[in-house]
Amino acid sequence: MILITGTAGFIGYHTAEFFLKKNIKIFGIDNMNNYYDINLKKDRIKLLKKKYKKNFKFIKLDINNYKKLNNLFKKFKIRKVIHLAAQAGVRYSIYKPSVYLDTNILGFFNILDISKKYKIKHFLFSSSSSVYGDQKKYPIKESVETSKPLSFYAATKKSNEVLSHSYSKIYKIPVSCLRLFTVYGPLGRPDMAPFKFTKAAVENKNIQVYNRGIHERDFTYVTDVAKAIYKLSNKPPNKSFFQILNICSSKTIKLMDFIKLIEGLTNKKINKNYVKKQKGDVIKTFGNNSKLKKMTRINKFISVEKGMKYFVDWYTKYYV
Ligand SMILES: NC(=O)c1ccc[n+]([C@@H]2O[C@H](COP(=O)([O-])OP(=O)(O)OC[C@H]3O[C@@H](n4cnc5c(N)ncnc54)[C@H](O)[C@@H]3O)[C@@H](O)[C@H]2O)c1
Repeated sequence: MILITGTAGFIGYHTAEFFLKKNIKIFGIDNMNNYYDINLKKDRIKLLKKKYKKNFKFIKLDINNYKKLNNLFKKFKIRKVIHLAAQAGVRYSIYKPSVYLDTNILGFFNILDISKKYKIKHFLFSSSSSVYGDQKKYPIKESVETSKPLSFYAATKKSNEVLSHSYSKIYKIPVSCLRLFTVYGPLGRPDMAPFKFTKAAVENKNIQVYNRGIHERDFTYVTDVAKAIYKLSNKPPNKSFFQILNICSSKTIKLMDFIKLIEGLTNKKINKNYVKKQKGDVIKTFGNNSKLKKMTRINKFISVEKGMKYFVDWYTKYYV
């Protein structure tokens, strides 16, 4: 059985579905917290339960509960772990760092330690492009220095990489650390730009454009991410026991062009308030995905134009 943590979350839902479509049994856990609309989390679980009755099990569980987690690994013979549960979001980490410490550090330790105890065959987890901070050379390779995170969120993700590296070497658990770049798509997160901008367009509300729109992002479509996780789950780093991979489309779009794209798709003009750069934000994300392409043979990534069309179609069906 494969354990996916954070299954009620955006990427967890899509990843679970990718495996379930291939008839692979999935055990999902999530604490169903209210960081954003809990109905969206409930709907994701409902959809998985309805479509994949036989192969999908889910329980509400906090990764800070070591004892219950331990029992779950024992009872359901977990063999691989895809750890996606986390407190996400750069901005929220400025106001509530303690939640990040609890879930992203202490909770992460629980999952890692229990994975070691039950000799998990492959431990994959979601790190983030935010560990790169601001760089001078693009596209960013996995090998660049990442010891200067600009947000507390990024600092917790970097800590995950360091903690799991030590476990992989000491206890020989194969660990894959996946640095995800701005993931978007249907059933996406309400706190992220694709959702916020589309909502504002549909409701004729204003949006805040940070840093005068100078930002640039490497948007990666969620099904490409799920496919990459699926393929990589069968490629544990058996010799070195540790690997880091950028999960990105390696194509960037400027924030103002991204807004124009949504205006085109919704047929609305969005009112913009220009505000200064937010603390913790990086100016540009643009990853090198050669390693990912080589290992997974995924050579085509969904374009942001196509992916945002799928997103806007879903958004209008779901909310309008
Ligand atoms: N979406 C992106 O662009 C992006 C980019 C880089 C990295 N990531 C990382 O990918 C992972 C998934 O992100 P997402 O976008 O799906 O976010 P999400 O918030 O939709 O999903 C995370 C899920 O984890 C659950 N969770 C939080 N704390 C928990 C706890 N203590 N115990 C059990 N469950 C808990 C939440 O309820 C949520 O459903 C996270 O680790 C995130 O940091 C996401």
